[in-house]
Amino acid sequence: MTLTLLGIESSCDDTAAAVVRGTDVLASVVYGQTALHADFGGVVPEIAARAHAEKLDRCVEQALQESGLTLAELDGIAVTAGPGLIGGVLSGVMCAKGISAATGLPLIGVNHLAGHALTPRLTDQVAYPFLMLLVSGGHCQFLIVESHDTYQRIGGTIDDAPGEAFDKTARILGLPQPGGPSVETAAQSGKPKRFTLPRPLLNQAGCDMSFSGLKTAILRARDGVVAEKGGLTAQDQSDLCAGFQAAVTDVLIEKTRRAMQIYLALNPARRSFAIAGGVAANGAIRDGLMQLCTELDTDFVAPPLALCTDNAAMIAYAGIEMMQAGHRDDLTLSARPRWPL
Ligand code: KG4
Ligand code: ZN
Repeated sequence: MTLTLLGIESSCDDTAAAVVRGTDVLASVVYGQTALHADFGGVVPEIAARAHAEKLDRCVEQALQESGLTLAELDGIAVTAGPGLIGGVLSGVMCAKGISAATGLPLIGVNHLAGHALTPRLTDQVAYPFLMLLVSGGHCQFLIVESHDTYQRIGGTIDDAPGEAFDKTARILGLPQPGGPSVETAAQSGKPKRFTLPRPLLNQAGCDMSFSGLKTAILRARDGVVAEKGGLTAQDQSDLCAGFQAAVTDVLIEKTRRAMQIYLALNPARRSFAIAGGVAANGAIRDGLMQLCTELDTDFVAPPLALCTDNAAMIAYAGIEMMQAGHRDDLTLSARPRWPL
């Protein structure tokens, strides 16, 4: 039976609701909060929680309207129950519980990371097991996804996530937020080899990564240029961005190669590698990963960006797989700020 679920997501700075039937996204609404946090240099948990609480009802209403369905036509409600900023997660969980209590619809608490990890199944019906690189502003990990509730984490960042490093690099160089797109644009006219930047943990065994040293190296390089010339030219900015992006790309490609070796040792009949998270939008990183997949004769799956970044369709879809496997939660469902897969 094809299930139709409402999904709710509010774990960071996007308020989102979606309606998914099987693998059809009938509606996916995302209210971003970037402007609310712009003056603070990062997401302010209290501001995020208030904005979620204010916007969730309207967001759900709009998703239902766009889907053309009423609550009575749904089979359940899936909600992100963690990990994330607790105020936001609580807002979503309370909203979902309210709808569940009022309608009697089954409630499913979904791990936000499972939502990202299962997205390639929603968009491309990728068969298990597949290898996923989840790379965003808050996350960076390699997962072998074996089923909707079996994940092998085979490595990840030991400090900053790459998106966070892109954002900090932009801040250091005086470029606008979010840093990823502005660093990528500036890098296009830059010389990646002008500055010598580290590739942390590149030669260390395993799939773990580190990006905080790279950010410090950018800070030092910038200070060096400023001390010498009294300021940064646009060319200096571009060269630093190009160097930074090349270093992140090198680390991600080399570590993906190693993760792929571990995954391929499982010997799946059909090998697939998928990416998710906002950093997956980066052209240089995407091209490098695509090339690696061609070299290793592995399918490369990159969901459309709107489903790679935070959204509620991925939560509804994860809920569908969980519900099909017999999973149900009830009104005792709790919000979990930490929840490893
Ligand atoms: O997945 P996402 O929307 O939110 C979470 O972090 O959960 O990812 C946002 C991150 C930001 O750090 C942003 O700078 C980064 O993704 N990003 C990029 C690009 N576009 C967005 N990083 C590198 N290159 C890009 N083109
Ligand atoms: Zn996310």
